[in-house]
This record gives sequence, C-alpha cells and structure tokens, in this order.
Amino acid sequence: MILGIETSCDETSVALLDGDGSVRVNLIASQIARHQPFGGVVPEIASREHLQHLFPLITRALEDARLAWSDVDRIAVTAGPGLIGALLVGVAGAQGLAYGLGVPLVPVNHLQGHIFSPYLNHEGPSTPLPERFLSLVISGGHSSIYDVRDGVVTMLNRTRDDAIGETFDKVAKFIGLPYPGGPEIEKHGREGKIDRKRFHFAMPQFNERSLDFSYSGIKAGAIRLAREHGVSAAGDPATLADFCATFQDALIDQLFDRLDTVWPALDAPRPTEVAIAGGVAANGPLRERMAEWGKAKGVIVRLPEKRYCTDNAAMIAFAALQSPAGAVDPLRVSARSRVQ
Ligand code: KG4
Ligand code: ZN
Repeated sequence: MILGIETSCDETSVALLDGDGSVRVNLIASQIARHQPFGGVVPEIASREHLQHLFPLITRALEDARLAWSDVDRIAVTAGPGLIGALLVGVAGAQGLAYGLGVPLVPVNHLQGHIFSPYLNHEGPSTPLPERFLSLVISGGHSSIYDVRDGVVTMLNRTRDDAIGETFDKVAKFIGLPYPGGPEIEKHGREGKIDRKRFHFAMPQFNERSLDFSYSGIKAGAIRLAREHGVSAAGDPATLADFCATFQDALIDQLFDRLDTVWPALDAPRPTEVAIAGGVAANGPLRERMAEWGKAKGVIVRLPEKRYCTDNAAMIAFAALQSPAGAVDPLRVSARSRVQ
C-alpha cells in the first residue's frame, strides 16, 4: 500500500494505491475558490491552504479506505517542480510520516506523475504500460512531448515561452472570465463556431528546425483580437462564443502540428501508443481530435480519466510504483521548485 501526497500548486491531494495500481482513494481539496478573486494562484495562500488541509485529508483518506497507519508500506511525495512553499508543506509532512512510520519515502517528479496518469483506472488495476509510448504533457505550467521507453523519459520538445494552460488562463482573464480559464473557454466555445477569418491566428514557426511549442504569439494575438472585436465576458455572447471556439482551436492546432512532425520521424521500435496528460487533457475538443488522430494513424490513444488530468496524488503514487528503486532516506528528500 502506497500513500501519495501532492501539494505542488493549488490542489492538496492524498491517495492510497495498491501495488497493482488500483486506486483505493484519491482525495483532492481544491483551492480554486481561494485564488479566484486574484485571477491566478497566489503562492503564499497556496502554502497556507496546504498546511491546513494536508493532515485532515490524510486522516480522511485512511478512514475512507478503512486502513490504519500500519497498512502504509511506502510514501510518495511530489518533490518538484512547483511552488517552493507549497512543495515544502508536502515534503516536510511526508518526511515526518515516513520517519515516524519507519517506511521508505519516494520523491516524485510532478511531470512523471502526469506522464503515467493516462494508465490509471478509476476502478481496478492500472492499464499495463507499453514498452514505448509518446506522452504529451499539457498543463498550466508545462507543454512538452516526451518519448517514454521502458519507463525512461526523454523530452523531445518544450515550450519556449508560455504553457498552453497558462495561455488559456491569461486570455480568459483578459476577457473577464474566471480562473481557471481553460474550462471557461471550452464552455463558451461550445456555443460558438470556429472562424479563422475573423479571428486569425498564425502557426508559430522558428527559423531553425525546432519542434518547440510557442504560445506567447497566440496569447498576444488573442488579446489584440479581443480588443479589436470588443470580446468580453460581459459583451455580446455570440462574439464571445466564436472567439473562444477559434482561440481554443488555434491552441490545439499547434499540438497536432508538432505531433505530426515528431511522429513519423521516430526510430524503430516505434511507440505503439500516444498518451495525453495534464489539466488541458480534460479539454473535450482536444480529446475528440486526439481520438480521431489515433484512428487515422492506427495508434492507440490513451486519454486520462478527467479526474486524473488535473493535479492529483494518485498519479504521484503511481509514478513511484514505476520506479521501485526510487525510495530514499526520508531525511535526504528536498523540495525543488525547478527540476531538470
Ligand atoms: O495539471 P494542472 O492541474 O496543473 C498544472 O500542473 O499546471 O493544469 C491546470 C491547467 C489550467 O491552466 C487550466 O486552465 C487547464 O489546466 N485546464 C483546461 C481544462 N481544464 C483545465 N484547459 C482547457 N480545457 C479544459 N477543459
Ligand atoms: Zn500538474
């Protein structure tokens, strides 16, 4: 039985998983309402909220799973990347527990958590991992494609500026939609139609042959277009809806532009699956397009259950299960805001 703890950003989460990846319990205390008045995550508030919620949540997780402290064999905690104050609460808590219970502690890279999350199931053991798969991590802080081979993760590209989720959030904030912006843009976009003539977005390219993502151009373009067309949460609903649908489509388009370049260039033995992960993987139109892409290419597409898209501790415990040798002396684990 492994206890997972995640406090890297604005969700306090605790999970208990069996060795076969079955999720016994995955609790998430979201702080979204506390940060909403500020239009984004306030690090100091995040740390305090984690401090308040972490231990009550662990107690409740054990109760919900009808388990005792003595049933916990191992603890996994997000050690980075993330907000340093927020990470410290989880790491210090996990260190104390691991030390007190005399069980090993596994520091987990938050991104590795996202990468393996599409293989978690709501009920029953996890889906077996293929020998090689491509992973798209698309969240508020990251946009990258990874090549995962025998559990070893290699980064193929990254964003040069903003992350895709951050772009959703910043543009949503500009037009007066609440935080987090991604689900809001999706919701309003559902009522609208994609109109690339009226709202024109260019595909970012680099002079050198780079596969990197870049979202700052789309962000700047979206803000300019929103100004020009008077797009606002309080304005004309039809204009808002069309803008949201088109802006969202431009963000998604770039993912497929890069994927279509990366995919055919991979060496043998080729990956057999493509998995998407991170908060933005909850996006409906993106999931549909990804499924169609897989069908057209004859590739298995793994879409994480929505509960495992945004930050959660089940994925952290699950990532720890992928590296059985990852346990270290609890006192030697440290939180790191940046991880290479
Ligand atoms: O993975 P996550 O919970 O936190 C990070 O590690 O960053 O991702 C949060 C991000 C936010 O930017 C949020 O706007 C975005 O995921 N997001 C979405 C959707 N749901 C969450 N973006 C687009 N469509 C959604 N349905
Ligand atoms: Zn995350």
